[in-house]
Amino acid sequence: MPAHCPCVTTPALSKKFYITTAIDYVNGQAHLGHAYEKIITDVIARARQCLGEEVFYLTGLDEHGQKVQQAAAEAAQEPQVYCDKLAADWQAFVDILGISNNDFVRTTDERHKVVVREVLQQLYDADEFYQDEYIGFYSAKQEAFLNDRDRNKDGTFDSIYGEIQELREKNYYFKLGRHQQWLIDYIEANPDFVAPDYRRNEVLGFLKNEKLEDLCISRPKERLEWGIPLPFDEDYVTYVWFDALTNYLSIPRARGEETSLWPADIHVIGKDILKFHAVYWPIMLKAAGLELPKQVLVHGWWQKDNQKMSKSTGNVVDPVKVIDEWGLDAFRYYVVRELAIGPDGNWTDEGFATRYGAELANGLGNLVNRSLSMLNRYQEGVITAPHDELAAEAIAARDKLVEQLRANELQAGLMTIWGFIARMNQYVDETAPFKIAKDPEQAERLGEVLYNLAEGCRLLAVWLQPYLPTTSRRIMEQLNLPTDLANIAEAEWARLAEGHKINAPEALFPRRDK
Ligand code: MSP
Repeated sequence: MPAHCPCVTTPALSKKFYITTAIDYVNGQAHLGHAYEKIITDVIARARQCLGEEVFYLTGLDEHGQKVQQAAAEAAQEPQVYCDKLAADWQAFVDILGISNNDFVRTTDERHKVVVREVLQQLYDADEFYQDEYIGFYSAKQEAFLNDRDRNKDGTFDSIYGEIQELREKNYYFKLGRHQQWLIDYIEANPDFVAPDYRRNEVLGFLKNEKLEDLCISRPKERLEWGIPLPFDEDYVTYVWFDALTNYLSIPRARGEETSLWPADIHVIGKDILKFHAVYWPIMLKAAGLELPKQVLVHGWWQKDNQKMSKSTGNVVDPVKVIDEWGLDAFRYYVVRELAIGPDGNWTDEGFATRYGAELANGLGNLVNRSLSMLNRYQEGVITAPHDELAAEAIAARDKLVEQLRANELQAGLMTIWGFIARMNQYVDETAPFKIAKDPEQAERLGEVLYNLAEGCRLLAVWLQPYLPTTSRRIMEQLNLPTDLANIAEAEWARLAEGHKINAPEALFPRRDK
């Protein structure tokens, strides 16, 4: 017999659930849209963890390009110094939102740049690039070359392109066109690759009706220095989107975790950057012989009071201000409850205050508060024997929620939870424990009702973990139970034991009478 069995090999690292957000422009103003994207991604990440998966969540910053170079010049700072200062603010923003990200990428990180150059070299070696001279128009605002198709009917260019320059420039091009049919076939064969389905149809419509132009992937250094130099021609830097998209791969690779992370499970993005993620990115990966992400999940855009948010008109929602005033979980609740992932949404301060009052303060907050207060008042906080009057409804709600979380139907999941909250509030009214408590002969019945209420609150705390992590923890603390992560799918009824003593309740969402 050999000393140790030769058949024992190192087990392959198991695949983690890998989810990303778009990376924000470092020189932009952090607003509701950025907060929304990070929060829905956070809810999905935490939900998967609560369903037993190992999760890796990446977010970060897009720091190269002409706009950043210009803004740094206007601030009379070196671009790197300028970016470092703004990056600290963005990281603080992520912390304020209570995001559970596992890494924070900055495209100026050396670890990222190395991988971008690796991918560029690989595509160059694979003959995916060629050099050509471009004569035409350029929009610095969009950092894009324009052609006649981008013109308005009257021949002018739309104001979204800003000032247009005429250019004559030699650059490197990526042969996107040759992958067009492959991409159509891929998207048709993998219907979940782009969600929701109307976004998939939009991509397919575009791919089937327009010839895919080759993509310019370089900018000459004399025009733009703030970028990653091409490894095969140092007179150029990389096009900022080529650089930015690669972040999803560069971080797993730089961390030595490519095997356990790649391919990404979900890239969460806004509708405006669909083409980059559902056309350019898959072609880049395919040309480099890499697997494609499993899904690009596209959310809509927020407006305020039915108007575009804009600093100049003062029509903006500042997430930090809302969180200061109302609390983080109230903010997280509103944005996920108000808007499903897909359509556009509209923020109103009145709508926020109404949901806060009706659903958080009166719905969840009042239920937990009155349930635990009665338990304290009538039974000195001590739980009696398990009782299952609400068990079947609770388990049905749990199963529905689990299905919705697996399908990333976050808004629907909240509605399921609030359906059970409404049922519990109705149960309090029906059973009237405050009346039974006055009759010593009904002590047993009182114990049963209070058991159902306390156990229902415990399950609510388990279900709320992905959405409202602080509130979930606070309910567990008030119930005097451990706050470790609990598996939602395995959360059974009647786990509160007879004789267990709870703590004093505290208001979760204090009422704000205006
Ligand atoms: N840097 C690029 C993304 C590169 S990803 C490889 C970018 N940055 S951004 O700061 O302009 O936008 C970041 C994300 O925020 C995008 O997904 C965008 O759709 C989202 N939002 C920006 N404004 C928004 C709203 N008003 N509403 C919802 N999301 C919006 O694009």
